[in-house]
Amino acid sequence: MSIKPRVLSGMRPTGALHLGHYHGALKNWVRLQADYECFYFVADWHALTTHYEEREVIEKNVYDMVIDWIAAGLDPEQCTIFIQSRLPEHAELFTLLAMGTPLGWLERVPTYKDQIDKLKDRDLATYGFLGYPLLQAADILIYKASYVPVGEDQASHVELTREVARRFNHLYGRGAAFEAGVAAALAKLPKDDARYFEKQRKAFGETGAAEALAKGEGLVRKAAAAIAGWADADTELLLGHLRGSGKTILVEPQALHTEVARLPGLDGTKMSKSLGNTVLMRDEPAAVEKKIRGMTTDPARVRRTDPGDPEKCPVWQFHLVYSDATTKDWVVAGCKSAGIGCLECKQPVIDAIVAEQRPWRERAETYLANPKHVHWIVEMGTERARVVAKQTMKDVRAAMGLDY
Ligand code: TRP
Ligand code: SF4
Repeated sequence: MSIKPRVLSGMRPTGALHLGHYHGALKNWVRLQADYECFYFVADWHALTTHYEEREVIEKNVYDMVIDWIAAGLDPEQCTIFIQSRLPEHAELFTLLAMGTPLGWLERVPTYKDQIDKLKDRDLATYGFLGYPLLQAADILIYKASYVPVGEDQASHVELTREVARRFNHLYGRGAAFEAGVAAALAKLPKDDARYFEKQRKAFGETGAAEALAKGEGLVRKAAAAIAGWADADTELLLGHLRGSGKTILVEPQALHTEVARLPGLDGTKMSKSLGNTVLMRDEPAAVEKKIRGMTTDPARVRRTDPGDPEKCPVWQFHLVYSDATTKDWVVAGCKSAGIGCLECKQPVIDAIVAEQRPWRERAETYLANPKHVHWIVEMGTERARVVAKQTMKDVRAAMGLDY
């Protein structure tokens, strides 16, 4: 058992990864490996929620993406890499959570309507697509993850996950064993304290008064410090009793919004495969050069002699990610005075991207030449994940009365 807090995140296999994926997420995943017990998985079922009719592309995309992860620096010795669809436990938890999840919770998730509006060419009036964030909740809760590194766009999914966990614990965390444990813990308190605690619990349950909650928590903390034979489990039981949440079976995760760089696409809009404006992590140097040279610039610079404004130019966003202070000063001065041309300005970006890609391409080569090795890495990761997922499902089934 690792004592590091657990991190979990997933990505849909939508093809070869681009620089937006790297700077927006993957770089951060690599950074987290040392300090957390990291679980990273391929969300292939999630890909099917929008691309359910494209069966032939999925397998290639799955392994290409894992190669990109490893190329970027994910170390299969340090983190656990696996595939969602190899773990039917995710589907089981999804089904069980679905029973008690109000439809309104899913309809209200902002990405639901956004995506339906955005992906007009697809029929997303499906049950699976509505359930997207609940499947994501199952992915997270099954590993009792403390942290979920996701972009801002996914914050509402983590929030839904927290609500689902809270509701689950409330509904199923209060079985006979819980009640007996609470009674035993209360019996350890001096009589007056026990009466006082019950009074605060009732007040909080009826009015939601934060003051009553604080008083009850204070009393539990005092008991934990003062009473001989008091156990951590007693604290947990009484706090669950006080809040009305019961025992913690599913852990409420927190979103981990670390600062990430936002790279626009070649045309200045969001970098995205469907918009055809990407630089791939494994693009050849010649392709990188061609793409960057063709990038949109400040439209005011029609002729070489027209001055420009870096703030209105997507190439500047690339400089912010890739260039040092000297280069950036050179860009700002040269652009505003028309002292440099746009192709000149783009060259340091091209060089920096090609240099960044070199170790990725080298690492990827070994795996591309030896697909069995990639399969084996995923196999090992999947089995490691399965141990955790199975244990959680045991707890969940027992809590729901399904352990017959
Ligand atoms: N929805 C995520 C995305 O589009 C992918 C995902 C699926 C995920 N399950 C997850 C991310 C669980 C974090 C945790 O990027
Ligand atoms: Fe953009 Fe550089 Fe051209 Fe200015 S000089 S418009 S920053 S590419």
